[in-house]
Amino acid sequence: MALTAALSLLTLLALPVVAQDVTYFEIGGNLDLNPAFSGEITSITWKYKGNIVAEYIKDSVPLEYLGDLKGRTNVNLTTGVLTISNMSQSDGGLFTVEINNRVLPVSYNAVGVRKLDDYPVEVIMRPLTCHRSSTECTLTCWVDLNEAEPVQYFWKKGEAGEWEEGEKVITISQETWSFQTITCKVKNPFSEKDSDPAVNPFYRKSSSFLRLLVNSFSNDYLSSATTASLFCLHMIFMMLILSMILVALCGTLRFFLMKSAVQIKLIIITVAKIVKEINLTCNLAKSKAYTNNFYFGLT
Ligand SMILES: *[C@@H]1O[C@H](CO)[C@@H](O)[C@H](O)[C@H]1NC(C)=O
Ligand SMILES: *[C@@H]1O[C@H](CO)[C@@H](O)[C@H](O)[C@H]1NC(C)=O
Repeated sequence: MALTAALSLLTLLALPVVAQDVTYFEIGGNLDLNPAFSGEITSITWKYKGNIVAEYIKDSVPLEYLGDLKGRTNVNLTTGVLTISNMSQSDGGLFTVEINNRVLPVSYNAVGVRKLDDYPVEVIMRPLTCHRSSTECTLTCWVDLNEAEPVQYFWKKGEAGEWEEGEKVITISQETWSFQTITCKVKNPFSEKDSDPAVNPFYRKSSSFLRLLVNSFSNDYLSSATTASLFCLHMIFMMLILSMILVALCGTLRFFLMKSAVQIKLIIITVAKIVKEINLTCNLAKSKAYTNNFYFGLT
């Protein structure tokens, strides 16, 4: 973003003098600069950092190449296209062209970019202790960007998910329980590279009715931490009633069947499952409220 802003500022500053484009070239590859000129070229002068690299004047000066780039440079006299082969990072800089003695030269800011082929891309999760019961965790699409910029970041949720453009760092929470993996992609003008899929710590195979319900709540409903807490209170209340019913049921069963140990064990397991479910759902409701507060700035 800062780079784009800086470049637009540069473009603005440069406008009164010349129109300037940023042209990316692949390091080790060719640089092609096309002045998009139509008509017969009667004279052409390409300059690099203010020094002439190629010059031609019809019927007067045959096409000749000068300076450090000589030997790697070619100019097509039909189109005016300048081609320089085997570009290195340090070959970047300002190129200008004057065709048929036009008053304003066209200029290009050539910037070298390396292909991402040899760059490892990784999803890094923080905190290190990120766990299914954490409130939220951050994922960073990590890559050493030495000479590989500018890049864009993309994220894919689940193996079959769609790639979506995003920031380098994203946040996941209990709300993101529905997919198993998360993968990031880094893209620059000449290449792209995917990370290995990272395991989503919040992933849950099945979803209970309660959690589906919370997920379907509109943002208005869980717009504050207070609503989330109230929701949790209601659920705890419901759980108490449910437990009481189960305990009563347990007594009855025990009275009639005399198989106390097995039944009691079953009931304890059931109550433990309900408690766990309510805890998870509460966490989800709170994280949803938290996210809403974050987005809408409510307190
Ligand atoms: C110049 O470019 C034109 C159009 O791309 C192409 O047809 C022509 O062969 C090129 N000339 C040379 C000398 O490469
Ligand atoms: C390309 O340039 C590098 C130095 O920048 C040089 O070592 C290499 O030999 C060149 N390759 C070709 C094919 O000219």
